[in-house]
Amino acid sequence: MSAKKTVLITGASAGIGKATAETLLADGGYTVYTAARRVEKMADLESRGARPIAMDITVDERVIAAVDRIKDEAGGVDILINNAGFGLNGAVEDTPIEKARHQFEVNLFGLGRLTQLVLPGMREKKAGTIVNITSIGGKVYSPLGAWYIATKHALEGWSDCLRMEVAEFGIDVVIVEPGAINTEFDEVLIGPLMEISGDTAYGPTTQQFAAMMKRSMENDASPPSVIADTIQRALRAKKPKTRYAAGKYAGTMLFLRRWLSDRMFDRFIWRFMK
Ligand SMILES: NC(=O)c1ccc[n+]([C@@H]2O[C@H](COP(=O)([O-])OP(=O)(O)OC[C@H]3O[C@@H](n4cnc5c(N)ncnc54)[C@H](OP(=O)(O)O)[C@@H]3O)[C@@H](O)[C@H]2O)c1
Repeated sequence: MSAKKTVLITGASAGIGKATAETLLADGGYTVYTAARRVEKMADLESRGARPIAMDITVDERVIAAVDRIKDEAGGVDILINNAGFGLNGAVEDTPIEKARHQFEVNLFGLGRLTQLVLPGMREKKAGTIVNITSIGGKVYSPLGAWYIATKHALEGWSDCLRMEVAEFGIDVVIVEPGAINTEFDEVLIGPLMEISGDTAYGPTTQQFAAMMKRSMENDASPPSVIADTIQRALRAKKPKTRYAAGKYAGTMLFLRRWLSDRMFDRFIWRFMK
């Protein structure tokens, strides 16, 4: 077996996942498996040495097949980067409940299942790292974000529980909380948001939210390499921190959430949206 660590990055066809794959491929210390539905979008990574896998994180057979393949070819996953996800936004009242369930299937249950499948191998080796990409939305909130924000708040707590459970087996769990990062995230978000709440009682708030999203993505957002570098730093650390926050607004938002009362933070968010 090679001395390189084997890493599996989900959601590597775009944004943060792709940037992380590029960084770890350039590092040279890793065998990099990349997973996403749009396997053709990972051809560039394959040409640099990555091993792409077509995988919808919500389809159990695909998830099992991916883990089996990595076990056969590389002896199992040493580092799992749970990054695949998207933001379902829209008023709570307007969002079809099956869409809300699907949001949880992708952002929580999918990665939960994948994690279950890699843990036995990590326990056997008495080593492993699981990096969960949450969001500053795992700590803060905004109107129209309820279903997405709920998945990220859930993932924060889930990750904390997991960290305590697996520590005795030599496995680290690291949470990475991105701020605003310039990826396909907003493109995937805005169309469905307008469809769900653009013409309802929440229409004016929706217009404001969409404009704020576009503005912050186009003008302010950090490049995805900021998160890739953060992940690389965590992987290189002898004892990684439990949490890393990085990217535009991350520090400010988390600071304000910690020190402002709920009502004061609500007012800040309304002002930020305007
Ligand atoms: N961008 C930000 O500002 C920001 C901020 C905080 C947190 N985050 C988090 O960062 C992570 C990455 O997002 P990003 O910004 O890089 O967005 P992105 O550019 O839209 O990339 C999302 C990735 O997730 C994959 N994905 C989505 N649904 C999937 C499914 N059902 N099965 C498998 N893969 C799926 C996509 O691949 P396919 O479509 O090819 O399947 C894509 O590779 C997400 O968890 C997101 O919540 C992003």
